Amino acid sequence: MRDYEPGKMKKVPFTGIRRVLEKATKLEAEGKSVIHFEMGQPDFDTPENIKEAAKRALDQGVTSYSSNYGYPKLRQAIADKLEKMNKIKADPATEIMVTAGGEEAVAVAIFGMLEAGDQVILADPGYIPYASLVKIAEAIPVTVPLVEEKNYTFDMEKLEAAVTDKTKMLILSTPGNPTGTMMDGESLSRLAEICKKHDLLVLADEAYEQVLYDGNQHVSFASLPDMWERTITIQSFSKTYSMCGWRIGYIAAPAYLIRTMVRAHQTMLMSACSFGQMGALEALTGPQDSLHEMLAEFDRRRLLMYNGLTELGIPCNRPQAAFYLFPDISEFGMGSFEFAEYLLDNYGVAAVPGVEFGQAGENHLRISYANSYEKCQEGLARIRRCVEDLRAGIRK
Ligand SMILES: Cc1ncc(COP(=O)(O)O)c(C=O)c1O
Repeated sequence: MRDYEPGKMKKVPFTGIRRVLEKATKLEAEGKSVIHFEMGQPDFDTPENIKEAAKRALDQGVTSYSSNYGYPKLRQAIADKLEKMNKIKADPATEIMVTAGGEEAVAVAIFGMLEAGDQVILADPGYIPYASLVKIAEAIPVTVPLVEEKNYTFDMEKLEAAVTDKTKMLILSTPGNPTGTMMDGESLSRLAEICKKHDLLVLADEAYEQVLYDGNQHVSFASLPDMWERTITIQSFSKTYSMCGWRIGYIAAPAYLIRTMVRAHQTMLMSACSFGQMGALEALTGPQDSLHEMLAEFDRRRLLMYNGLTELGIPCNRPQAAFYLFPDISEFGMGSFEFAEYLLDNYGVAAVPGVEFGQAGENHLRISYANSYEKCQEGLARIRRCVEDLRAGIRK
């Protein structure tokens, strides 16, 4: 029998996050205690009013396909939200499309807009699926390292040097996974200039746009002067409303881009989950108290973890958004993969090796504090023991 797996899929790895989770689950099944810092989803339940709205929709028979673009009422609510919170003016009839989470939105933008051989600029470290999706589309990912010392923004000269006549798209992810940081206004303006000069299409993944701390304000790339016409904005209900399993997100982009992407979406998905869309409508139009409560709790954990690591002398950029820390563990000379395994096997802490997010993430760990305050305290105590042991020359 021939090898049916195409070469392009051989280049697409299983995500490292899943690998860590599987190993951690196996250890737990053997009776070991594990603190989970590997998961990238809020540990809160979806707010009750959102669940009730979806249940009502089910009872009322909202169970068929919606328009490929999503229900008009939800698109109108999204348009209102974008105008109020993101300074983006999008026509709900032609410039908004509801998708199965931000992930399908990213896939639709990549499959719908790229051709084989197109080059795409990606940040390193960055969200793992971008490069995989680009490879499945037979386009070419070109990574540009982010500068840790500059709060993980691009070195603009390096970024511009990576642009060729084949570069079609820049994928911008701010607030960023895995770093939990945000690009500042000056960097975004400079990026806008580069995109204009080289006529680049921008995929702005804003999955974490509302998970912010310290009074930080998110700036949507599409709201910058002249950027709307070349920007595909992606947002999601997953992180903001603790709705990861609902699979509802959306794209806002000029009608000429949506017209192309909706054909990829109708071919792959038809339409996003019908009653899920009704829950999403309630999320946008109902009370926002649960969001504020979730953010207050995340903030407590963020400060606990950040202060704890800093006191331990582990270098770490202060997270501004999302629920991740990206500490530098180069002191221990193990590399991120080995260190993550060592920490899990010997101290029962599951975190993701930084190298999973790209070569520039080597010597870092991604720690997600989407776990209870008590578990964060316990995880931090275990990390402290590991670090103190290693510094004392005790290697298990
Ligand atoms: C940067 C980023 N973009 C997009 C997504 C996809 O999220 P969803 O499909 O649940 O909206 C994630 C999920 O972790 C993410 O971290």
